[in-house]
Amino acid sequence: MSPRARRELLAAPGADPAADVATDVLTGPVGNPADLGEDVGRSGDPDGPGARAVDPGARAVDPGAGEGEEGEEGDEAGLRPRSLREFVGQSQLVEHLGIVLDAARGRGQPVDHLLFAGPPGLGKTSLAGIIAHEMRVGLRVTSGPVLARAGDLAAILTDLQDGDVLFIDEIHRLHRSVEEILYPAMEDAKIDILIGKGPTARSIRLDLPRFTLVGATTRTGLVASPLRDRFGFVGRLDLYGVEQLQAIVTRSARILGVQVEPGGAARIAERSRGTPRIANRLLRRVRDFVEVRGDGVITAEAAAEGLSLFGVDRLGLDKVDRAILEALCHRFSGKPVGLTTLSQCIGEEPDTIEDAYEPYLLQQGLIQRTPRGRVATARAWAHLGATPTGDRLF
Ligand SMILES: Nc1ncnc2c1ncn2[C@@H]1O[C@H](COP(=O)(O)OP(=O)(O)OP(=O)(O)O)[C@@H](O)[C@H]1O
Ligand SMILES: [Mg+2]
Repeated sequence: MSPRARRELLAAPGADPAADVATDVLTGPVGNPADLGEDVGRSGDPDGPGARAVDPGARAVDPGAGEGEEGEEGDEAGLRPRSLREFVGQSQLVEHLGIVLDAARGRGQPVDHLLFAGPPGLGKTSLAGIIAHEMRVGLRVTSGPVLARAGDLAAILTDLQDGDVLFIDEIHRLHRSVEEILYPAMEDAKIDILIGKGPTARSIRLDLPRFTLVGATTRTGLVASPLRDRFGFVGRLDLYGVEQLQAIVTRSARILGVQVEPGGAARIAERSRGTPRIANRLLRRVRDFVEVRGDGVITAEAAAEGLSLFGVDRLGLDKVDRAILEALCHRFSGKPVGLTTLSQCIGEEPDTIEDAYEPYLLQQGLIQRTPRGRVATARAWAHLGATPTGDRLF
């Protein structure tokens, strides 16, 4: 069945993918179904895949799609690596992916479904763009929380082109009923649609084009195991080392047209909490600093001075990191503290603390997780310039 016929069927009154259908998604805020047709922003041409937005929450991730954007968001899109060769670090993951992509290319098949897991800002979205680019196929972007109904996903799936990459960010936040549509789609490239209502309702199974699902999650633990098991490859991204971040800063500086000395790149890298997104952000702040207060060149001294001015300390800790350490050391006198208490104390969501702050604090040996709660380590006390007190565990 052609994509157009599938869309028409879905748009028919009473058509109801997996019982929970919202046919209005086809004519809803994304516009007329015909507008999502094959001719829209196809990214199959080797010179410039462009991401196609699939719903109001979809974001374009391909660097090409960032062109013409203004401001720092445009910068961010321009800084994304486009190919595996440009992707710095994560060498084992890159090697594995290289093999998976080469093999799929050799067989002339779409790549198996891939799941990327790791803390925010490490390159999951970038990798989805890279896979589409390397395979010379289209990329469609959406995310778990915006797919409110099964019909939302059904509409996207039935509109895919052969070989397309469908990227679902925050896949652990998919609604159960939406997730269930994915199972037959991933396994057999099929989707179940319920036509009509009541006793006359009948279910039909539609063939979908072959596609690659790329999922991203900050928490593998929260991806239901039936879903996790359907991915052919699960890649974990780890925090980056200083050398890799230095290479990323140097590359980004070149793209942004700012002059950075190796020492300057190293200072920024050391304070980037192992995260490329933070490295790029700090680079932009230091660029501002040297443009206003210096001669436009990022030297080691200028970087250190600029970063201190913006409240980023020697270890790259920001206000929230320091608030966590202060709470553990001073407010609770070094006693173990539960996540909820900690979150109320510093005014951040527990999820944010766990996903965005703790990985780096743990990696740096500043805190420890114990069965009784989080505790500050001797290094944290030293970093705050305080002497340990109270009921410490070491
Ligand atoms: N390996 C890398 N090499 C060069 N730049 C990178 C790399 N990884 C990430 N970046 C840069 O970091 C930025 C953030 O990466 P990306 O958006 O892919 O992270 P993410 O893992 O999807 O984050 P989130 O979980 O918050 O969605 C990108 O714009 C890119 O410029
Ligand atoms: Mg992302």
